[in-house]
Amino acid sequence: MCGIVATFDNKGNLIKTLLDGIKNLEYRGYDSSGSAFIDNKGQLSVYKYQGKIKNLETALKNNTTSYEYGIIHTRWATHGIPNDINAHPHTDIDSNFAIVHNGIIENYIEIKNYLAKYHVTFSTQTDTEVLVQLINYFYKKNPSKDFIEIVNNALKMVKGAYAIAVISPKYIDEIVVARKGSPLAITKINNNFCAVSDPIALLNISKNYYFLKDGDIAVLNHSKILLKRGKKNINKIVLKNISSNAEEIGKAGYKHFMLKEIYEQPEVISRLLADSDLKKNHIKRPSNIKIIACGTSYHASMIGKYYLEELSGISTDIEVASEFIYRKPVINKSTLYVFISQSGETADSLTAIKLVSKFTKNTLAITNVVGSSISRESKFVIYTRAGIEIGVASTKTFLAQLMVLLLISLNWSNNKINIKKELNLLPIILEKVLDQKININNIAKKLKNFSSILVMGRYLNYPIALECALKIKELSYIQAEGYAAGEMKHGPIALLEENYPVIFFCPNDSIMVKSLSNSQEILARKGKLIFITSDDLKNVPIDPAFKLPKTSNYLYPFLNSVFLQLLAYEIADQKKLNVDQPRNLAKSVTVE
Ligand code: M6R
Repeated sequence: MCGIVATFDNKGNLIKTLLDGIKNLEYRGYDSSGSAFIDNKGQLSVYKYQGKIKNLETALKNNTTSYEYGIIHTRWATHGIPNDINAHPHTDIDSNFAIVHNGIIENYIEIKNYLAKYHVTFSTQTDTEVLVQLINYFYKKNPSKDFIEIVNNALKMVKGAYAIAVISPKYIDEIVVARKGSPLAITKINNNFCAVSDPIALLNISKNYYFLKDGDIAVLNHSKILLKRGKKNINKIVLKNISSNAEEIGKAGYKHFMLKEIYEQPEVISRLLADSDLKKNHIKRPSNIKIIACGTSYHASMIGKYYLEELSGISTDIEVASEFIYRKPVINKSTLYVFISQSGETADSLTAIKLVSKFTKNTLAITNVVGSSISRESKFVIYTRAGIEIGVASTKTFLAQLMVLLLISLNWSNNKINIKKELNLLPIILEKVLDQKININNIAKKLKNFSSILVMGRYLNYPIALECALKIKELSYIQAEGYAAGEMKHGPIALLEENYPVIFFCPNDSIMVKSLSNSQEILARKGKLIFITSDDLKNVPIDPAFKLPKTSNYLYPFLNSVFLQLLAYEIADQKKLNVDQPRNLAKSVTVE
């Protein structure tokens, strides 16, 4: 969610390094941004502004103060509306400490009430301010204590999730960082230690990182680190190369990251198809599977269930992580628990894998981010290798998840179903869908002014209908509802009236006849049917809005995904909305 960078530099590059870093994290949160610095006279300065990072950048542009080190933050609001005051960094009443935080302090009201007894007053509506006031409270109780001890004492009272960086004019040349639940990594820039909430921040200047573990707290100065892990003191850490490609962070001439990422999909699929590891069976065929995920990754798991049951005959259950973690699920040791997460940091999914791991180690993470928290918690890991995805809307990583699920289902199958030929052709036919963008633009033009849209599909294209509705909602703010077409007659058909728009995914697959009847039901009520089919469906009394190239039943979700992504993209772009950073959303959802 929020982004954090903290580092030292007394050679005049500090503001640039922090700003460049945080700009690479803006996709994680963009309600407001702010920074705090300590200068060469030991003075603390804080700058924070509502809105995009450029507001902070403008304020810092002509700054000539010799700052020695600092912290910076981009916010995705949880507690308190996005405004200048609620922006991070937060300071205590004495301005002894400044903090940036990603996560949620769940017991902030309890702590606030406790501090109020000591006449601490609060100026923001945030949970984070409570933590910095608590740090100051412990400092005032015992000012001779080390910085790291003071912060540690405060953190002992905290419930919830955090990645923090704290500076103080009382402790010159030190930045204290800590994490629990939210990610934080350490790197070095020009021999100066540096902390980031996500390596993407500085990937263009450093590829070597050390990921802090849950519960870690460390004090950094230019060249030294003291890391406390439980009772252990660690003075040396080994930064490991994370082989991500910094060039991927650019837009490569596309108008938006999302568009670039949509167009990268044929390549992503080719890469996975060529991956010999994915074609082998490293994981023993389980007797049953439970998949847990959120959002788009959950839609991938729905399709995965169909693949696993049909192709491999493995009974598969799926659940959204946020529901799974707060009921009392039965954890079965013979089940393989699969966690699908693009970021590998989604708090709900991370909590779910931690919960399952208490009972069984039979866990598999399917994630895009090497070294992510979920990958580290899991016994087995399959990386989707889609490359960095910056657009908040998941696109190429969704297709990569589908491909991984399909390939593992084929691995565990008895090989009765042979779709090798169609699989090899998939990258080419994905290109063919991309080539028809102009037709999709015209469909977008017809849909963009509606305030609500129904999206239908059956069988493998039912999750596609859900994903299409999600993409339209998140990007263009149109109320879109995805539905299993066979369920329409059980309620939603009442919505239909003349010209009510319904997108219907109906390729020529094994359920086509049933889907055609459902489409007729829409036409009979004069609904505005946007019929998406495959070009081999002939002699039907419905005009297709869009035709996909013919392929296997199992691959239509891939083609339909490209269509729906381009459609949602185009509607949003035509409405002049912020495609890469839709309102209220963040790329990596590290709060529950
Ligand atoms: O990183 P994850 O796959 O765990 O994220 C889960 C959801 O937040 C995510 O899929 C979200 O729904 C999409 N970005 C929407 O396009």
